[in-house]
Amino acid sequence: MLENQEQFINLVKEKNKNKNLKYSILTMGCQLNENDSEKLAGMLEEMNFTQINDYKNADLIVFNTCCVRENAEERLFGKIGEIKKIKENKNVILAIGGCMMQEKNMLDKMKSSYPFVDIIFGTHTMQNFPEDVYKAIQNNEKVKDIIDIDGEIYEGLPIKRNSKFKASVTIMYGCNNFCSYCIVPYVRGRERSRKPEKILEEVKSLALEGYKEITLLGQNVNSYKGNDKIKNFADLLNEVCKIEGIERVNFISPHPKDFTDDVIDAIKNNEKISRIIHLPLQAGNSKVLKEMNRKYTKEQYLNLAQKMLDEIPGLTLSTDIIVGFPGETEEEFEDTLDVVRKINFEQIFMFIYSEREGTVASRRKDQIPDEIKHKRFNKLKELYESRVDENNKKYIGTNQKILIEGQSKYNNETFEGRTSTNKVVIIDKNDNYKVGDSVKVKIVEDHRWYLKGKVV
Ligand code: 5AD
Ligand code: SF4
Repeated sequence: MLENQEQFINLVKEKNKNKNLKYSILTMGCQLNENDSEKLAGMLEEMNFTQINDYKNADLIVFNTCCVRENAEERLFGKIGEIKKIKENKNVILAIGGCMMQEKNMLDKMKSSYPFVDIIFGTHTMQNFPEDVYKAIQNNEKVKDIIDIDGEIYEGLPIKRNSKFKASVTIMYGCNNFCSYCIVPYVRGRERSRKPEKILEEVKSLALEGYKEITLLGQNVNSYKGNDKIKNFADLLNEVCKIEGIERVNFISPHPKDFTDDVIDAIKNNEKISRIIHLPLQAGNSKVLKEMNRKYTKEQYLNLAQKMLDEIPGLTLSTDIIVGFPGETEEEFEDTLDVVRKINFEQIFMFIYSEREGTVASRRKDQIPDEIKHKRFNKLKELYESRVDENNKKYIGTNQKILIEGQSKYNNETFEGRTSTNKVVIIDKNDNYKVGDSVKVKIVEDHRWYLKGKVV
């Protein structure tokens, strides 16, 4: 934590004394954003604000925005309109931050059309948030705190985590890949890796606090760069797995082009690493992949996926797929379906291509009409769902270790947890175990979106 920011934390804390002020954070987008929001929450708690879910009753509202796909913008503007009305009757501080604010056209729009927003902050200046809040409270000043250059990494920000058992740990920021459809490299800047000793320190202290499951986060985790001793992502995985108390380790997202053999070995050698690995495909056709600037062909992807499945017993794969990239023909889309048929993905995150201003793909004239994009999306969804039930059958009769996360949303009488392959498992509630316990279960029933287990 920066020293001058600690001063601002203390100043705001003093001002908020005995006022019982509430804050609410609305987070859009990926787990990196969720992790940033946990840090914003950590700073706000230190400033004597208390978290509530219902933003309509909050004294300070933060939007942590995402700009990867365009529907997020409509949602944001809808919510800002709602808050404008609340602000007319009540003193509420409205802060908007995250990726969307790093986009020049969005920032201009915010300034011209939404002048009542109190704080606008970017992804590289989050550590100054206490100062922004102080200025907004003290001077009633509109604060804009955004820089274009790649941010430094600030260690030691306070953090208020959403779970007591599962924690995310960001290992790197930014992306150098410039996939032609993607805005992330423009808003999150170039790759910056955290020092391995800082990451391990954080995971060790999480283990001491009782956390059992860790997710290592980054836009491109397997291009992580460490130091002389812990050189790369494989080394980091091996070290994280040595930490006592941590029972499960996940990571998102790796890039297929950087999936080296030492990472495959690290997964194979460490049972703690989840048996579901996210391997974003994006498209199944080599020409489309080239135009996406993904740096692998259909065959290379298939070979890598098959090699991983062959070498690591019990492994499953999840993936991201975009349909309707500019110029994608029906035949080329068929290649995506072909890969889905060949690799029995455990989970598929499906996206309709969304034009992002400033990216290479958005300048193309051969954009695909919405109707065709939706048709392809539905076709992919149908294929995926038709395989889910069959895929679930493989679990029947197997023993699985799950971490009990809480009451199940599928059935009040049951707890739910997840297998190492991220399948939801429900078990009957029983006095012998509680939330946060790891239990071994035998799978007795399969349903489309969850499995039923019996403790063994
Ligand atoms: N349109 C649709 N999906 C996108 N993604 C990234 N950019 C776009 C876009 N412009 C998807 C990719 C990525 C995931 C996080 O979001 O599949 O892996
Ligand atoms: Fe975007 Fe590609 Fe970087 Fe992922 S690897 S964040 S899809 S540019």
